[in-house]
Amino acid sequence: MRRLVLPLLILIAAVAFWLLLRPLIAPVLDGNIGFSPEDLDRFSQTLIWLAAGFLVVRIVDRVIWEGWLRGRVQRETPELLRTVSSALLWLLVLIGVVSIVFGQSVTGLLTASSVVVAVIGFAARQLIGDLFFGIALAVERPFNVGDWVRLEDGTEGEVVEMNWRATHLITRRKMYVVIPNGVMASSRFENFYRPQRFFRESFTVRLDYDITGYQAERLLLSAVRQVPESYSLPEPPEVRVEELLPDGVVWEVRFWVPNRPDRTTIKTKIQRHLLRNLFFAGVEVARERAELIVDTVDKLQKRRPQTADSWLSRIDLFAALDPKELSDLERKAKPMLCRAGEVIVRTGEEGSSLFVLVEGALKVTPGDDESEETVLAYLDPGRFFGEMSLLTGEPRGATVAAVIDSRVYEITKADLAPLLEQRPEIANLMSSFLAERQLATQSVLADRDRESTTEDRETLAGQFLQQIYRFFDTGFLKSLTRSHKETIGSLSDRAFLEAAMAAAAMVAIADGSIDAAERAEIADVFGSIDIFRNHDRAEGLGHFDRHVEALRSGDADAERLVMKMVRPIAERPGDARIILRLCCAVGAADGQVLEPERGAIRRLCRTLDILPEEFGILET
Ligand code: CMP
Repeated sequence: MRRLVLPLLILIAAVAFWLLLRPLIAPVLDGNIGFSPEDLDRFSQTLIWLAAGFLVVRIVDRVIWEGWLRGRVQRETPELLRTVSSALLWLLVLIGVVSIVFGQSVTGLLTASSVVVAVIGFAARQLIGDLFFGIALAVERPFNVGDWVRLEDGTEGEVVEMNWRATHLITRRKMYVVIPNGVMASSRFENFYRPQRFFRESFTVRLDYDITGYQAERLLLSAVRQVPESYSLPEPPEVRVEELLPDGVVWEVRFWVPNRPDRTTIKTKIQRHLLRNLFFAGVEVARERAELIVDTVDKLQKRRPQTADSWLSRIDLFAALDPKELSDLERKAKPMLCRAGEVIVRTGEEGSSLFVLVEGALKVTPGDDESEETVLAYLDPGRFFGEMSLLTGEPRGATVAAVIDSRVYEITKADLAPLLEQRPEIANLMSSFLAERQLATQSVLADRDRESTTEDRETLAGQFLQQIYRFFDTGFLKSLTRSHKETIGSLSDRAFLEAAMAAAAMVAIADGSIDAAERAEIADVFGSIDIFRNHDRAEGLGHFDRHVEALRSGDADAERLVMKMVRPIAERPGDARIILRLCCAVGAADGQVLEPERGAIRRLCRTLDILPEEFGILET
């Protein structure tokens, strides 16, 4: 309101002059100094008009622009609008003075001014257009100074100034671009800082068909993860298949960048990490290729259909098998075609086979009626089922029926038993699946939301593993005895013995004390296992006890020493696995592998560069 005081005082002064001073001065003048009383009248009336005009301009500015409009649009009224409105009001004052004070006709003035305005308007129509678009942009505010915009024609940059005629940008190449408001208002443009500053970018990469979806996601998403500027944004990155081409799968990596100017830098960073990830994973970007088959028609006709070869190798569960084991098992597996609705296994039945779905879709329901509404899971090609009864001897825990016509293979316990003994990792992996499925079933049936924890899964997987070994009458150590044969040549060295004993000691003492069963397991090793038979039992137990003593004190150097002994074995993955199996045997000697023991096995796995999942222990 303070801004109204000055014009009000001027108006009061002008009125006072008119009322008080003019009657006094008028007789004195009376044409004496070439200034008649009428001139004085006109002078004082003009003063009043100007003072009143000044007050009205200030009131409009204060009440309409600063009060009403600002309240409505919640931001400062553009300077340009205020200037134009003031100019119009002053024009009205001028017309008032000319017509009322000086008694002149305004028609002439208006006509003259319209002609002048028309001439000026025509000459400066672009400028006037820019002015009005400038007002529109200033009121609507689709962007602000500091925003990053891109016009339809590809011009893009940071807005550094907006005035009554043009919008000024600075481009990424540090060039200054001035865009008339008329162009700005009539072109389609994108504001990268609305509704939020960060936005999505993407690039594509072509990978071979033998890279699975999971592997592609791991490789691509981890590259984004390695760039904190992008990964720390609230929106997660995603990976999707863009196209399936004869030369490979085109994957699109979608990631977020915090602001427009950094987009190329961040994209380059992600791509560099991707190249590194591909290098370490031994994966190459797919190349264009042409296959030349030089064959006689006769041979081509005899060629076995592609679909028949090695369906088993594509199932994760059997990934560890070598080609001979795979083909033996494949030969033994019985193919079955199931019609839609057909039940393959039913709850409560005895069963000792495992099934692998290769084509179709299956439904798992809890009761013995396949038509019931509760569905535990749908199984896709590549999934297996029936492992629970096969591995534990329990009756079937669920009913599995074909949703559409499906093709499955049946593998019996007799086919699988020799492999389970030779390849303990299969039993480990299966126990994880068993645990996962059991928890999923429990959560569906109990209708609870609680997510099962890693701990639940591991505890249950450990229990299943014990059950499997009991049922198959085998054990970690038996499997050790069988699998050592391939590596026996390289194992009869002292470094291996000390590393094995140090690692076993670390697991045995992990829960704070040594169990009689754990020491017995170690002592047993020297009697029952060939590789250890070459060594002196007393020497081996001496190493074991020495490390136990050092570790018992909780001294960090003691664990460092264990790792120092163990680390060289990482060069020999076969031997490293034997040490880890021995550690699992020691951990499981008292019936279950407790969390501290699992933690010790995880740390050893890290030093030996082997995934703990192989031993049924999940990475935390
Ligand atoms: P089994 O109990 O031998 O027979 C029924 C099979 O259904 C069972 O083994 C599992 O393979 C499978 N199954 C049980 N529960 C689930 C589940 N929640 N998700 C997927 N498969 C399951």
